[in-house]
Amino acid sequence: MCGIVGYIGGKKASSILVDGLKRLEYRGYDSWGIAAMGNKKLSYAKKVGRISQSGDLAKIGGNIGIGHTRWATHGGVSNKNAHPHFDCSKKFVVVHNGIIENFAGLKKQLISEGHKFESDTDTEVLAHLVEKYYDGDLKEAVRRALLEVDGTYGIAVMSTMEPDKIVAAKHGSPLIIGIGDDENFVASDATALMPYTKKVIYPEDNELVEITKDGFCTVTIDDKKVDRKVQEIDWEQGLAEKNDYPHFMLKEIFEQPQVVRNALAGRVIPTEGLAHLGGLNMSPEELLKVKRIVFVACGTAYYAGMVGKYMIEECASIPCEVEFASELRYKRILFDKDSLVLVVSQSGETADTIAAMKEIQRKGIKVLGISNVVGSTIARETDGGVFIHAGPEIGVASTKAFVGQITALAILALEFGRLKNLSFMEGKRIAEELKKIPEKIQKILDQSDKIEEIAGKYLNHDNFLYLGRRFNFPIALEGALKLKEISYVHAEAYSAGEMKHGPIALIDENFPSIFIVPKDSVYDKTISNMEEIRARKGKILMVTTEGNLDVEKYVDDVVYIPETLEMLEPLLTVIPMQLLAYYIAAMKGRDIDKPRNLAKSVTVE
Ligand code: M6R
Repeated sequence: MCGIVGYIGGKKASSILVDGLKRLEYRGYDSWGIAAMGNKKLSYAKKVGRISQSGDLAKIGGNIGIGHTRWATHGGVSNKNAHPHFDCSKKFVVVHNGIIENFAGLKKQLISEGHKFESDTDTEVLAHLVEKYYDGDLKEAVRRALLEVDGTYGIAVMSTMEPDKIVAAKHGSPLIIGIGDDENFVASDATALMPYTKKVIYPEDNELVEITKDGFCTVTIDDKKVDRKVQEIDWEQGLAEKNDYPHFMLKEIFEQPQVVRNALAGRVIPTEGLAHLGGLNMSPEELLKVKRIVFVACGTAYYAGMVGKYMIEECASIPCEVEFASELRYKRILFDKDSLVLVVSQSGETADTIAAMKEIQRKGIKVLGISNVVGSTIARETDGGVFIHAGPEIGVASTKAFVGQITALAILALEFGRLKNLSFMEGKRIAEELKKIPEKIQKILDQSDKIEEIAGKYLNHDNFLYLGRRFNFPIALEGALKLKEISYVHAEAYSAGEMKHGPIALIDENFPSIFIVPKDSVYDKTISNMEEIRARKGKILMVTTEGNLDVEKYVDDVVYIPETLEMLEPLLTVIPMQLLAYYIAAMKGRDIDKPRNLAKSVTVE
């Protein structure tokens, strides 16, 4: 999705803007632009395509500037629609994330007042509104402009009339202010600021921040002064580098043993068979009152919610549901104050998830967040929750965040379970087994060469069916999503038992199936489903538990995973799914970290 970077200080702004925008590339974009000012002179560049194709930006001088990566919503992908946007006299410059919903009416009005528009975007109305309201005070002009606007925005505005400041504002789109020494920054995402500062402030919705090189001042849209505390980001810079890996995705897959260790750290006591998630901000009495749990999420995070449902129902017998955030907001909410809602989101900035969260909160229902990004909207606006501590996930295809989310949900299931059904011995077993997961993931990662070889055998197939049951049904869905996202190959997933109710019609020798069948309570049933495929000459790649050698005569290829508890299998079975998708995409030469049409953080509904 769109990204924003702004800089004011003593350094060359364009270099910092380009560097910051490159750090935001993972969010996905189709065009980009920067504008900078020195001696009241404004220069800018806007281009379609990747920033790495930018050529020479040396002509853009000055120590103050704003930049943007655009993911088209209103208006096609073109230089003229790329940000920044300007007013008629090119004195006011705006970059914007979000959608101005009433832009058509505003544009009509502004045109009737004599304003000339250059682009097809919704954003350009902001530049003209600021021009219209400017009366010697940029912040005031931006504030008045925003009072006219419906929709969502994270914006940064600068002007040749006041070349010593940037005005930023936020409503429903992410925005962060970086605080340096004699220099300050604005960005849509902390990743852009990593090399420059760890000190940040998080403006709230309906707030404007006036940023100069040595300070900042925050007001509400109603012009009331607010104090925002400077906070520290604890991510390490090295985590956002690719090191020797060809792609962030592969690096992130290989980080997963450490991701599980981070998520478990200090939260699980194997000797007692207990778990405790302090961030829930709920006493045992409050937890015991929960009669229903509803997971709300999108994409991969939704599948993590599905795994969480199975885990909590298994350990604590609390009925759970999983809802697409994008659907929930538009239907009747049929749960009440005895329910606990868990919004799951790696970025904490997914617009659909935030909108659903707000709708649920409006009804007075408790909402907790499971997120990876400290300071994200979901982390800040929920009543409590769990950070997965996976470190920055840069690859658009979510991998380590999924494993971090499932680990957090397993801890939650253990905490709920021990309050309710689970015995000491059962709790101990889960806690001990959780601690062994990192080394078991490593054992699967050590088979990456074999999985790469298998990927080569399946490279030329255009369709795949992913099948699993119970805990591994969400992993089938996740495996198919990974393959689609990064290799652009069609894949669909079914609960293995459902396959005979329709999808089996697709099967022939050219339509392979990926079966996720560890030796567990549904093993025999799933093997019967596999036989149904074999009888129709469908090729089979099977993921099963090590030692299950008999299957080698029945299937075309096998990947073995170490044995674990059934409820923890998803933490292992997902690893071959990720690697298979990665290697197929790599062999096809796809742009793995930035797949076409996708954005890392989907900040529009
Ligand atoms: O940041 P979130 O976890 O809220 O993102 C949700 C989805 O947009 C995300 O998981 C998406 O499906 C990924 N591209 C999956 O790899």
